[in-house]
Amino acid sequence: MNQVNEKKLAGEAALRYVEDGAIVGVGTGSTVAYFIDALAGIKDRIKGAVSSSEQSTAQLKKHGIEVFDLNATGPLDLYVDGADECDPFKRLIKGGGAALTREKIVAAAAAKFVCIIDSSKRVDVLGKFPLPIEVIPMARSLVSREIVKLGGQPVWRDGVVTDNGNWIIDVHGWQITDPVALERELNQLAGVVTVGLFAQRPADVVLVGDKVM
Ligand code: A5P
Repeated sequence: MNQVNEKKLAGEAALRYVEDGAIVGVGTGSTVAYFIDALAGIKDRIKGAVSSSEQSTAQLKKHGIEVFDLNATGPLDLYVDGADECDPFKRLIKGGGAALTREKIVAAAAAKFVCIIDSSKRVDVLGKFPLPIEVIPMARSLVSREIVKLGGQPVWRDGVVTDNGNWIIDVHGWQITDPVALERELNQLAGVVTVGLFAQRPADVVLVGDKVM
């Protein structure tokens, strides 16, 4: 099956985790776009959504789905999002679409994180996909030097500004065998806003197409 079909199947399959009356946490990306389209079909059964990006907010609103501020909702039951890589322990690399910070916030607020991917995203060890790190602009060089000391090759995603007004560094060349430790270590660098590793809080369920991994 091709990747587009798998993404669509995964987006539609995630609907089974949506409960009546829910405010659903919604991620970002091409797979999530299918989820939002599917969600529109049951929009009368849900209260609304919390969005992780301007892109998803626009799509949700276009469908007439109310978008809530996370500060107004309290904890969420469900967060649905895609990923750039997923290992066998449901630990993820995210941030290919530069939405990692709000994604991590909404994921942290949710009791269940359902990750929707196509099979090309599955890996044994994270790191083939360059690891995105959102940084405060003035810390770009400082953080890059620290990454070099840790053996990575940082590349500035020149021209990209996140929804939060920050910049992205993509780190190449890491075989991430201990993603929990690396996430913790990178989180401590001054100027780092968010690391695109979702390992301390991995996904709870991964749907590869319509199959539970
Ligand atoms: C956004 O920053 C990313 O974390 C997305 O979740 C990821 O890039 C989604 O990939 P797809 O567009 O392939 O669903």
